Amino acid sequence: MTVADVAVTAGGPNEFGYHDYALGEFRFSRDEYFAYIGWPTGRHVMSVDAFLRALQRDVAWEFFYGIVNFDGVLGTMNHYGTVDLFAGRYNDAYRKAELDHVETVETTVIRETFKAMLADWTNEGFDPFASPEETGSAFGAKHGDNIAAITRHRVTAARMVSLPGDEPLRDDGNGHPVNRMFADVIQDQPDIHAEPGFADEIGSFNLFAYLSRSPVTWNPSVVSVCRESLYCPTTEEYILPIIHGNDRAEWFVQLSDEIIWDVEDRDTGAKRAKVIMKAGDVAAMPSDIRHQGYSPKRSMLLVWENASPRTSALHDRGRPCRGRPGARPSRPRGVVPVHRLGGVANQRKELRAHPVRGDAARVRADVHRGDHLTARVMQR
Ligand code: PHB
Ligand code: FE
Repeated sequence: MTVADVAVTAGGPNEFGYHDYALGEFRFSRDEYFAYIGWPTGRHVMSVDAFLRALQRDVAWEFFYGIVNFDGVLGTMNHYGTVDLFAGRYNDAYRKAELDHVETVETTVIRETFKAMLADWTNEGFDPFASPEETGSAFGAKHGDNIAAITRHRVTAARMVSLPGDEPLRDDGNGHPVNRMFADVIQDQPDIHAEPGFADEIGSFNLFAYLSRSPVTWNPSVVSVCRESLYCPTTEEYILPIIHGNDRAEWFVQLSDEIIWDVEDRDTGAKRAKVIMKAGDVAAMPSDIRHQGYSPKRSMLLVWENASPRTSALHDRGRPCRGRPGARPSRPRGVVPVHRLGGVANQRKELRAHPVRGDAARVRADVHRGDHLTARVMQR
C-alpha cells in the first residue's frame, strides 16, 4: 500500500476545532486540555501535551524498536511492517480484568493517521520535541499549526556525520546555535592528519560540540553507522515522553550531567529498578524491560543501538535476551549498570564532592577533552 492509497478516517471538527480519528475500533479525540482514547472495552484520557510529545516520537521514529508506551495504558508495538496499537496490553491490571485491546494495523495506515492527528492537534507555538522551557503551550482551542517543527529533518547518517555527502555538522549559519545549557562546551574541531593516500578514509568531528547545538530533546540521531551498530546520541531535558519497551538490548553511555531511569517489567509494568546515571556511567538495558528517563538539566546521552533485522524474528520464536529456553540466567534479572569508563569515572568524584551545577559543567568540560568521535570510514 502506498501513502497515496491510505485513507485516514477522521470526523469533525468538534466545538474546539479539532478532528477526531479512528484506527480499527480505536477512537481518538481532543479538547482544550486532554486527548481521549476509546476502544470497545474501555476509555482513557491523557494530558494533550504529553500525548503529542509521545505521538511526535512514534511518528518521527517510525514506531522505533519494540514498544512505545505513551503511558502505562496506551502504546504501539512495532512488527516492522505492521504495528500493534494497544490499550492495557502491557498492564497487569487491564490484562487480569480482560479490558485490554489490540489492533494490528499496516504501518502506512497507522503512520498516516498519526501524522494527520499530530498536524491537526499541534497548535502554533507548541513544539513537541522541545523542552518545556523552550516551547509554548499545547492547550486551548485550535489555533494555527506548527508543521515546520513536527516535520523537521531527522539526522540519520549513512556512515558518519561530517563526512562528504553525509549529514553536515551544525553551526550558527545553518540554524543550530549552542543551547543555553551548553554554553560551556568547547567548540573546536579536531585536526586530521591522514597518511598520504588515506585522506578519503578518515573522518573526525567534535561530538560534544555537535550535541551542544541540538535544538530538540529526547530524540536520538544516528551519527555513525558501523554495520548494524548505530551510535544514536541525544540531548535530554525533563522527561522522556514515552516509556520504551525494548525488543533488544540497548546500551546507554551518560556523556554529561545526570539522568534518573525508572525501569519496569516490559510486560506487566511491575517496578524493577531505579538507575541513576552520572557522567561517565554506562548501563545495558535488557530486552525484557521498559524504561523512562528524567533529566533535571539538559544532558548528553549516547544510546547505542543494535539495528539487526534478525532481532524481531528471534522475538517471534521466543525471548532473544533470555538465552536458551530453560537456561539459567547468567546474571540477576534487571538492569545491570556495567562499568564506568576509566578516566571519566575519576572526574565523577569531583561531581560528587561539589554537587552543584557549575561542577557538572566542569565535568563536562573535562570529559570533553577526549570526546572526538573518529572513525575509519568504511568502504562500501
Ligand atoms: C530509549 O528509549 O532508549 C530512549 C529514547 C529516547 C531517548 C533516549 C533513550 O532520547
Ligand atoms: Fe530504550
